[in-house]
Amino acid sequence: MKIRPIHQDDIPAILDLMELGAPYVRARTSSDYWLYANLFSTTCLVADYNGQLLGAIIAFCSQDHPENLYIQDVITDPDHRRQGISTALLQAVRDAGRRFGCQRLYLTSEPDNSAAHGTWTNMGFINVPGDHIVNGVEIISDYKGAGKHRAVYELRLHNTAVN
Ligand SMILES: CC(C)(COP(=O)(O)OP(=O)(O)OC[C@H]1O[C@@H](n2cnc3c(N)ncnc32)[C@H](O)[C@@H]1OP(=O)(O)O)[C@@H](O)C(=O)NCCC(=O)NCCS
Repeated sequence: MKIRPIHQDDIPAILDLMELGAPYVRARTSSDYWLYANLFSTTCLVADYNGQLLGAIIAFCSQDHPENLYIQDVITDPDHRRQGISTALLQAVRDAGRRFGCQRLYLTSEPDNSAAHGTWTNMGFINVPGDHIVNGVEIISDYKGAGKHRAVYELRLHNTAVN
């Protein structure tokens, strides 16, 4: 399996893959994926197994806070979960963040997304303290707008070495 940047030709397959992420991930528009493939492909990656896309990650270095790299979406094909695919995608983005000089990776997930919580914490992300706890997960109320409560996770990048 190869972790590689998204290509414009991947867009139809990525749309199909993202549809498998419900209810936590939904496909964005083909124009969004065009943008990711053409302007952000260092941190927008796919897991490619002989031409089949088994996973994808969409992430961006912040322009407003260049020390931050935000991970917007992560997905693994349901038939290939628990095989380390998302971890490999996250590691590749982490390594890109180090090359860019970022100091912090962060992301959010929905309060009941226990698979996501397990994946982030297994990789060393810290669940940022919130204002309430749901099933042991710290949640920040209204983080993404009214009623959009989110669990927030961060991984500090302490050095520039790539493991
Ligand atoms: C969350 C998701 C991306 C994880 O992808 P994945 O490729 O299966 O994750 P990995 O195989 O890298 O998991 C690594 C570790 O994370 C933890 N983990 C992953 N899924 C888990 C689950 N369902 N329950 C508990 N722990 C889990 C485990 O520690 C796992 O290691 P192990 O399999 O050796 O026990 C996947 O379940 C998914 O696509 N879900 C739908 C979309 C989504 O919710 N995305 C996140 C919101 S942006």
